[in-house]
Amino acid sequence: MQRVEGKVCIITGAASGIGREDALLLAREGAKVVLTDLNESAGREVAAQIGNNALFIRHDIASESDWQHVIKTTLEHFGRLDVLVNNAAILALGSIEDTTLELWQKVQKINGDGYFLGCKYAIQAMKETGGGSIINMSSVAALGAMPMFCAYSASKGAVAAMTRSIALHCKQQGYRIRCNSVHPDGVNTPMTQALTGGVAVNQQDLDQDPMNRMCAPADIANVVLFLATDESRFVNGAEIRVDNAQLISGL
Ligand SMILES: NC(=O)c1ccc[n+]([C@@H]2O[C@H](COP(=O)([O-])OP(=O)(O)OC[C@H]3O[C@@H](n4cnc5c(N)ncnc54)[C@H](O)[C@@H]3O)[C@@H](O)[C@H]2O)c1
Repeated sequence: MQRVEGKVCIITGAASGIGREDALLLAREGAKVVLTDLNESAGREVAAQIGNNALFIRHDIASESDWQHVIKTTLEHFGRLDVLVNNAAILALGSIEDTTLELWQKVQKINGDGYFLGCKYAIQAMKETGGGSIINMSSVAALGAMPMFCAYSASKGAVAAMTRSIALHCKQQGYRIRCNSVHPDGVNTPMTQALTGGVAVNQQDLDQDPMNRMCAPADIANVVLFLATDESRFVNGAEIRVDNAQLISGL
């Protein structure tokens, strides 16, 4: 028996980085996976690598009609929804002084509205079939202070607060839907590589340095897998830091 045998999981942002790793790992552990992303070619490639148990849907998470389409297609194709991994997001560099209102609103629309819509429509589908698990990718930026990521930190803080609100609402309604947030520090993905001018970091070098702040996408995917399984059935409304004690040592 695999750890998520037969569960149907939607993973947003599954064409790249952490989302890609989540999709591959959940599929290896027996899940049927719906991969969504704006990047169609890379997303289809990951789905093809998985095979029959994977479906790719082009999806802008900031669009309500796209969410309705993703949930409808998932139910038509796989018959149910057990797990949503709200993972897709954008990073934006800028302090309070150099972030424009336009950039602020763009970040909140994707990283905030996108997660709200995902939770809203997933709950509707999950409560019909007896429950599920929603996993929201937040960041240590939601918990500590990162002066150079003002809009991004705010969006990730909103995700953490919304997660707690949803967890308690679903518990009070008796839905058996859990909702948790995951808070990584640095993860070696194209998102962070963009900050280093596109230079890929050598994971082997990172692995040799116990002080390094960067982990591999698989380190996050393992936590996502745990939250997707019934092994975590009593973990609800939690903020799970995956940061090698960085936050408690001061960001
Ligand atoms: N990489 C890190 O260091 C780090 C740290 C903390 C939290 N996170 C969070 O982890 C998650 C995954 O990050 P990653 O590093 O794998 O990023 P990534 O940039 O490698 O992948 C993000 C994916 O999301 C997709 N995407 C962007 N906007 C979208 C939209 N509007 N609709 C649909 N898809 C969209 C992109 O096409 C891309 O494939 C994000 O929520 C991020 O904020 C990452």
